[in-house]
Amino acid sequence: MLRCDVLIIGSGLAAATLALSLPEHLQVVIVTKKEPDESSSSWAQGGIAAVHSRQDSLESHVRDTLVAGAGLCDETAVRQVVDEAPRAVDWLIRQGVPFDREGDDYHLGREGGHAHRRIFHVADATGAAVQATLLQRLAAAPNIEMLTRHIAIDLITGEKLGKSDRRVYGAYVLDTGRGAVQTLSAGFTVLATGGAGKAFLYTTNPDIATGDGVAMAWRAGCRVANLEFVQFHPTCLYHPHAKSFLITEAMRGEGALLRLPDGTRFMPEHDERAELAPRDIVARAIDFEMKKRGLDCVYLDITHQPAKLIISHFPTIYRRCKELGIDITTEWIPVAPAAHYTCGGVLVDRHGRADLDNLYAIGEVSCTGLHGANRLASNSLLECLVYGRAAATHLAGAEATPRTELPKWDESRVTDADEEIVIAHNWHELRRFMWDYVGIVRTSKRLERAAHRIRLLTEEIFEYYSNFRVTNDLIELRNLVLTADLIVRCALRRKESRGLHFSRDYPDLLPEACNTVLTP
Ligand code: FAD
Ligand code: SIN
Repeated sequence: MLRCDVLIIGSGLAAATLALSLPEHLQVVIVTKKEPDESSSSWAQGGIAAVHSRQDSLESHVRDTLVAGAGLCDETAVRQVVDEAPRAVDWLIRQGVPFDREGDDYHLGREGGHAHRRIFHVADATGAAVQATLLQRLAAAPNIEMLTRHIAIDLITGEKLGKSDRRVYGAYVLDTGRGAVQTLSAGFTVLATGGAGKAFLYTTNPDIATGDGVAMAWRAGCRVANLEFVQFHPTCLYHPHAKSFLITEAMRGEGALLRLPDGTRFMPEHDERAELAPRDIVARAIDFEMKKRGLDCVYLDITHQPAKLIISHFPTIYRRCKELGIDITTEWIPVAPAAHYTCGGVLVDRHGRADLDNLYAIGEVSCTGLHGANRLASNSLLECLVYGRAAATHLAGAEATPRTELPKWDESRVTDADEEIVIAHNWHELRRFMWDYVGIVRTSKRLERAAHRIRLLTEEIFEYYSNFRVTNDLIELRNLVLTADLIVRCALRRKESRGLHFSRDYPDLLPEACNTVLTP
């Protein structure tokens, strides 16, 4: 059994910020299911929103966040995050992140829904630069140990131990290299496991985004909220040889236009902010045009900007598209919407504390109230930073808790799996019907269809899980089907269209904005 003061599950920005902000006398173990840099954080392009320019104001950032959130944001959480943003970005700068500069100052990008330029970025690969810097710091920290290729299976709760408390004592973790399950006993446990984009066939997310944290928290007895609000990014590259490659919204911020195949612009007909409307509106408009005209994609056109500007601002996208035979300085980019961000998650307070004692959830896995019914661009990395730091402060002040002796993982009743194909098949089936029935435009009938199929898959996966030794793929599938179930249950509860949840059966907005909270 391994013991530590703080167990952090995940190695994205939320995890790294927390670990580096904790006092050095605390022994920290980070478990991450693939390599340290396999995370949405490392894939982030556009950047991090924080008020910096004199023309801008905190009030304006608050307003933009509230407007995007379609009446459902928790204003206290919004103010906490927006107020902290400049200090959080300053912390990153002190860690060594080389944000782009223009003359004596920082170059600020612009994205949809923002009234001002306020996005700190490193060209179009902000996440890679941030994570490279922080992962280096983590490797050098004497009190932090990182276990790679270790996937957390479940939290160990007082209830599971037959105690009467509501505390989390650590987690069972599969070392996928050795195929052995380890018991980790921790004073505090933190879920920093990211989102669940892989529940959908088309996504901008990396493979790790399988909703593990939401599923583990739910099974442990925590409430989850607002999972119906799945954000579809309007512009994922549409190309047979490019899986999940995002074309940053910052490109529309620099003037890129959306066009139909014949060159017609369509966004002005959908919203007066045209290409810079919030994401839900742009994604729905693209979906509408594609379905109406039977198109596989629409086009993003930045060719009217000077080639030098395009290449210097978007070098990663320029290179990737060039490899695929598209020169973005002279040709339009084929794009289509894809699942991008999970706005809901494990319900937490302003310190990142979840429902059970000694358990925190930070970053995309959590539901803080910041995003409401639709996240404003570049507010997510910011949330990771602010809540990572808030949780660290709270944890550092919390009373030290004894690390407890915990039972071993019981493998006495399972054998090695005989039919791995079942996992691959169920995985594909789930992602296909989630895309078809729980996508950008929903109906109650489609949601019921999805719920029915989820019930069948759940039974099959439960049987498989009960009989066979756990593997990385089985753990992820079990979590993904549960997260999909929670998404559908939330969607069925909402009898209106708000933000990212659009239902043909309930196209109007109800007068009162309510969170969808599910209790286990
Ligand atoms: P992640 O960075 O996703 O990290 C999750 C970690 O948890 C990973 O290390 C993973 O391996 C680990 N993990 C998961 N489950 C387990 C388990 N069971 N056991 C062990 N480890 C586990 N947001 C912005 O604000 N600005 C942007 O410019 C931006 N661009 C984006 C571009 C792309 C392509 C994508 C996909 C997202 C983008 N986002 C952006 C969203 C943002 O990147 C994410 O919301 C944010 O990085 C989430 O950080 P996180 O630390 O919560 O999770
Ligand atoms: C992007 O660069 O378009 C992604 C920004 C975000 O998801 O906030």
